[in-house]
Amino acid sequence: MPDLEISNLHVQAEDKQILKGVDLTVREGEIHALMGPNGSGKSTLANAIMGHPNLQVTEGRIRFGGQDITEADTDERSRLGLFMAFQYPVAIPGVTITKYLRTVMNAHREARGEPEVPLKEFRTTVQAAMELTDIPREFVSRYLNDGFSGGEKKRLETLQLALQKPRAAILDETDSGLDIDALNVVANGVNTVASGTDMGVLIITHYQRILRMIKPDKVSILYQGRIVTDGGPELVDRLEAEGYGWVERELAPAA
Ligand SMILES: Nc1ncnc2c1ncn2[C@@H]1O[C@H](COP(=O)(O)OP(=O)(O)OP(=O)(O)O)[C@@H](O)[C@H]1O
Ligand SMILES: [Mg+2]
Repeated sequence: MPDLEISNLHVQAEDKQILKGVDLTVREGEIHALMGPNGSGKSTLANAIMGHPNLQVTEGRIRFGGQDITEADTDERSRLGLFMAFQYPVAIPGVTITKYLRTVMNAHREARGEPEVPLKEFRTTVQAAMELTDIPREFVSRYLNDGFSGGEKKRLETLQLALQKPRAAILDETDSGLDIDALNVVANGVNTVASGTDMGVLIITHYQRILRMIKPDKVSILYQGRIVTDGGPELVDRLEAEGYGWVERELAPAA
């Protein structure tokens, strides 16, 4: 049961308290949008869920499928089936995409007690994922994210998502900097991977547009390190129309 449950999470980085008691659950099969103004702690929450080494959890728990992963290292979280697409993906010069994808795929297979992926199966799987994400063939022999445009990086992440088929995915501003076609490709990729599975998705975004394509079941608003309200897609429309002023007036946590 791959529910991702965050309770009373307090996180600090370099003595700065960023998350101040976050409660959030991403249920099995749920598309959950996380919104909030710049600097409210969305990326910090995503990084904390993945176990970023620069963040300290000072209070609270993170559970995944009932298992407490608060202290687990990033590798272990990934092997349990958590996937994260970063707001600012890093380049890894010297590692080709093919090699990277195979390494990741085999690590996941090993975690499930399966043998390494046969070359033929790997090729077919990658081919299908490339078609889904509209990634040109010549990409796979290039180095990971090295010299890739912003949109190309995001499409590559969607490719990884399609290959990994994680049990829960965190997408941090996957839509930022995408042109309309790339946005469609990414949204279609995420929907295809998610449909008919029990994968939970936490999608972090500032904008309505992607949430028209990847329809959230639930929307939560993070404000000054706390979830101050949640609801359905109507919250997205209200934010789009009114911004965050009402959140500050009506819901701002007492400091
Ligand atoms: N390693 C760090 N050291 C010190 N402060 C940090 C660190 N990481 C994040 N912060 C601060 O924590 C706050 C929240 O940052 P975070 O990146 O989580 O915001 P965000 O909600 O993702 O914003 P955006 O919408 O701009 O992406 C910011 O004020 C940021 O400067
Ligand atoms: Mg962010």
